[in-house]
Amino acid sequence: MGKVYLVGAGPGDPELLTIKGLRAIKEADVILFDRLVNGELLGYAKQDAELIYCGKQPGRHALIQEEINAMLCQFANQDKVVTRLKGGDPLIFGRGGEEAFVLREQGIPFEIVPGITSGSAAPTYAGIPLTHRNVSSSVAFIAGYNPEKDTSDYWRSLVRTVETLCIYMGVKRFPDMRDRLVEHGMDQETPVAIIHWGTTKQQKTITGTLATITDQLDEVSNPSMIIIGEVVKLREHIQWFDELSADLVSSEL
Ligand SMILES: C[S@@+](CC[C@H](N)C(=O)[O-])C[C@H]1O[C@@H](n2cnc3c(N)ncnc32)[C@H](O)[C@@H]1O
Repeated sequence: MGKVYLVGAGPGDPELLTIKGLRAIKEADVILFDRLVNGELLGYAKQDAELIYCGKQPGRHALIQEEINAMLCQFANQDKVVTRLKGGDPLIFGRGGEEAFVLREQGIPFEIVPGITSGSAAPTYAGIPLTHRNVSSSVAFIAGYNPEKDTSDYWRSLVRTVETLCIYMGVKRFPDMRDRLVEHGMDQETPVAIIHWGTTKQQKTITGTLATITDQLDEVSNPSMIIIGEVVKLREHIQWFDELSADLVSSEL
């Protein structure tokens, strides 16, 4: 029987892949990779490795999760080493847990290799620490669209207990989320940053407040990370990546 590696490819900069993730790419007979995985990483695959794209393409439907699950099992049952390569971390809004469930059910051996999640890497490359002494000691990673969580209790507890919010998949729904946060007590003047294509050459960061940032929303699109909290102000002092000269930046997607 083969084996499946569920691997986090990191947020975009290929140098943020772990050594363990690199080994899983090098050993794979088959690699199933997502849209947000940097293509450069596939250059480390064996020459005869089969590379299967699982993300969305214009005019073509993405493979649905059930098809991906079935392929992971099918290749592993053919005694192949299969690497499932996902953007960021496989278990943070990455559906890696669902794939692990299926593999366990089918008795297929697997390993999970963590990756650096974009919720941590994008703000770091934008010069925004998620925690900072005397500014923030709590962080929540939340999804921009989660109808089950759209309750007053949910928004109130976020506003009361969490000092830094990292919102994945949130650009389209941002105005709505902003309204919910303000309704439940968050100050309109709370700083916000939105980081588009964090850690890559295309990285672009816009900043403002809950009240003002919507004026610039059309400057960013998916994939973007939204950071809300006082920590955003620290970018003024410690932004670094935007100032590197282009030839020092390693990644282009
Ligand atoms: C389906 S989630 C996958 C998250 C991934 N598993 C992770 O740990 O980063 C996709 C969302 O992650 C965020 N994202 C992924 N890569 C990003 C990047 N390079 N810069 C900013 N946000 C990113 C965006 O919010 C995007 O809509």
